[in-house]
Amino acid sequence: MAESSSAFDFLPEDLSYENLVKAAEGCQGCDLYKNATQTVFGEGDLESGIVFVGEQPGDEEDVKGHPFVGPAGRLLDKALAEAGIDRQRIYVTNAVKHFKWKPQGKRRLHEKPKASEVAACDPWLRAELMLTQPRILVCLGASAAQSLFGRDFRVTQMRGQWLETELAANAIATIHPSAILRTPSDLREAEYRDFVADLTVVAREIDLLN
Ligand code: URA
Ligand code: SF4
Repeated sequence: MAESSSAFDFLPEDLSYENLVKAAEGCQGCDLYKNATQTVFGEGDLESGIVFVGEQPGDEEDVKGHPFVGPAGRLLDKALAEAGIDRQRIYVTNAVKHFKWKPQGKRRLHEKPKASEVAACDPWLRAELMLTQPRILVCLGASAAQSLFGRDFRVTQMRGQWLETELAANAIATIHPSAILRTPSDLREAEYRDFVADLTVVAREIDLLN
């Protein structure tokens, strides 16, 4: 078989969650599977209609095989709790399902996925959206937002406000928790507060829908 340029070739016929997870384990839709430990598929409540999309698994996610379980995930958990959103009730995934990294000494340093890699991985995300039918869709950071709302989308300008899109009745973008971790310490708390404020907008909508 010729080398694949998209996850599309690996989609199962029946798009059940179990089938998707299984099929994604063997995905070679771009080169990122080559240097990663495993595919990290989305996880969580498939029924709530509340979907969070990040960028790609990080070092810890790659080893453990679950999304948002590393430093960014712990910060996300804290912010969700503060905003009053139950992580058990949301579905959490990433735009790209394999960890992209470059060596830095003994560490594996996160590397931003290219637009072509985000595009290659998009069939998995679309399948997840079909399955979960989000009423509330939350993009964490530019990679997720640009993958779903287009390359011209600017998170810094559009964050925290409801967006017009066919993907979900309510869609919104905010910064990525990793961006908070990278912020210089004197500004970090303010950055975190703004993040919680955006998530509080989401929490209010969840309350309205319940
Ligand atoms: N950053 C992400 O975007 N996703 C994860 O799962 C972990 C870190
Ligand atoms: Fe497939 Fe996505 Fe992994 Fe590329 S990053 S190999 S498209 S699952």
